[in-house]
Amino acid sequence: MRVLHTIAELRSALAGTRDIALVPTMGNLHDGHLALVRQARARAGDSGLVVASIFVNRLQFAPHEDFDRYPRTLERDGELLDGAGCDIVFAPAEDELYAQPQTFKVVPDAALADLLEGHFRPGFFTGVCTVVMKLLCIVQPRWAVFGKKDYQQLMVITRMVEQFALPVEVIAGETRRADDGLALSSRNGYLDPAERARAVQLAQALQAMAAAIGQGERDLAAIEARAMQTMHEQGWVPDYLTLRRRADLLAPQAGDLEGGTPLVALAAARLGHTRLIDNLEF
Ligand code: PAJ
Repeated sequence: MRVLHTIAELRSALAGTRDIALVPTMGNLHDGHLALVRQARARAGDSGLVVASIFVNRLQFAPHEDFDRYPRTLERDGELLDGAGCDIVFAPAEDELYAQPQTFKVVPDAALADLLEGHFRPGFFTGVCTVVMKLLCIVQPRWAVFGKKDYQQLMVITRMVEQFALPVEVIAGETRRADDGLALSSRNGYLDPAERARAVQLAQALQAMAAAIGQGERDLAAIEARAMQTMHEQGWVPDYLTLRRRADLLAPQAGDLEGGTPLVALAAARLGHTRLIDNLEF
């Protein structure tokens, strides 16, 4: 496995290879990321190349967010990626990827990107789309793998790829969880031991909302309000806990609940200083 820091080095390492699978990350890798790398390896095959990028993208962080303290653990990440079957780590410095201020941006469809995460983190998906577009242009992969853990991000990127007719197939990876059910996340490392022990309450809130629908309850506002109330009582500060249609992330209509429309429960909430997100398809 090689670790490359410049666009020029990467381009020459990839020249002539068609079967390239890309896994974009911000590093501080865990088993969720590594599962995506293994999926990429399966797509690229023995003769193809798996590229994992590691870049903490300032464009997707608001000034008050955790850009500065986001964990940077390149050496350990390299060891993990090597073990997962990655061929090339692309870890550019900020002045390599953004040699000029990135004044051209990819602004996503507001109907999808201004709700949920985009509502609570204005500009977040513009930052994500801009860096992902740039990485796709640099690497020109046939496949790019993203996790369902960031459900709305996966949808926004899928739509971006469709609308720009980018010659890449977006592959979705299932969310990997710790034994207690907490979705793996680099931000879990911010939790102190007491918070870590309670963090699974977020996944449990999603399960409770899905179970209510499963048991025939139809008052969505009441289900969501109850979930909010429970999380508040447990000491969380939720941004949202909501039931949506998988297809467009809008609220289900009456017919959707009876018609078997695929749904997803999504949540974002703060525990102490740590903001976590999770979702559950049902
Ligand atoms: P990051 O948070 O590092 O996540 C990189 C990829 O790993 C994303 O596709 C994310 O959905 C996936 N992932 C994270 N936790 C996961 C889990 N528990 N199970 C499965 N997959 C998981 O998402 C980003 O970085 C950035 O926004 C990025 C796309 C790299 C653009 O900067």
